[in-house]
Amino acid sequence: MSSDRTDPARHAAVPSLPAHAYFEADAHERELRRVWRRHWICAGRAEEIAAAGEYLAVRIADRGILLLRDEQGGLRGYLDSCRHRGAALCPSERGRFPRAAIVCPYHAWTYDLQGRLLRTGARPPPEGFDRDAHGLRPLPVREWSGFLFVCLDPDPPPFAAGFDQPLERLDAWRLADCVSAHRSVLTIACNWKVFWENYNECLHCPGVHPGLSRLVPIYGRGLLEARDDPDSRPQTAGGEPGTGDGLRHGARSWTTTGELVGPEFPGLGAADRQAGQVYVTALPSLFVVGHADYARAVRMRPLGPETTELRVDYLFPREALAMPGFDPSPAVEFAERVLGEDAAICETNQRGLRAAPQARGVLMPEEYAVRAFHDWLRAEGAID
Ligand code: FES
Ligand SMILES: [Fe+2]
Repeated sequence: MSSDRTDPARHAAVPSLPAHAYFEADAHERELRRVWRRHWICAGRAEEIAAAGEYLAVRIADRGILLLRDEQGGLRGYLDSCRHRGAALCPSERGRFPRAAIVCPYHAWTYDLQGRLLRTGARPPPEGFDRDAHGLRPLPVREWSGFLFVCLDPDPPPFAAGFDQPLERLDAWRLADCVSAHRSVLTIACNWKVFWENYNECLHCPGVHPGLSRLVPIYGRGLLEARDDPDSRPQTAGGEPGTGDGLRHGARSWTTTGELVGPEFPGLGAADRQAGQVYVTALPSLFVVGHADYARAVRMRPLGPETTELRVDYLFPREALAMPGFDPSPAVEFAERVLGEDAAICETNQRGLRAAPQARGVLMPEEYAVRAFHDWLRAEGAID
């Protein structure tokens, strides 16, 4: 939708999506096809596959994907399916292929890390068999700030298309050099769109997030950004897109105490340090929030029409983890509380949608970013 804040259309109430779009199998399949199998999807962190032969097996939109590090340090992605009779090749979610050979567990067809078929098990192939035509099916892959992306469409959209900010927006955090000090994985009983809608508004913040609303005063007023303040004068209503309005007086990070738990990122400018939180969103699978001393990355993927998995990483510079007494738990505890509150309210939303399948809710002007998300889904052909 228009980002022009003076656009009258932005200040109208508009219908939301029909409730059945949040649980019907046909609607879900269409979204998998139009969104999840066409866009760049974040599937892991670079540090998870650092050495040659290390792999991750991920399932996105009902497709098994194998991501691995080749001998040159390059990232490679393949459909996790043997070219003989289709068996999955990865024995676990994460591991290392010994001797740089991917050996199918079924009849031992063997591939190298470039995906080339080396051997058809114990028996030589018959005369005329084209080995070169039976390599693993490659997928487009890309690394950004230490995040691994893969696309199920061999002809992917421009990488930056899903991002709401320039790709360099978080460069000062040097996320490629950061490592996860803590990871949590949770499954929420809601449609993936419910989670993104909730992410895209702060009307719920005063009621759902009392602690966060104390830390971030603008959230306590139900506003996403300082620029949304109806009382702000034009000269103070600016602010960088994607940043909040700062933390409560004296607080420096998203932690239980408001104190830092690690050293401040040295490259941050004053505005980014004072913002309290800097968001970058990469639809449909990732958002990253930069704080003064850590960054939080939330990856998501639908496991079914009413089940969404979240993986949250707390990223710190490698040196911070090595510091004596380093303890990320005040950050983890604070953010997990907020996430738990969001997960619970998303499940409440999902339960209610089931009650009136044909009904549509209504979006208020303050929910302009939810509306923009719906416009994006429409533009993708994922919904009517
Ligand atoms: S299915 Fe892989 S070797 Fe037979
Ligand atoms: Fe929330």
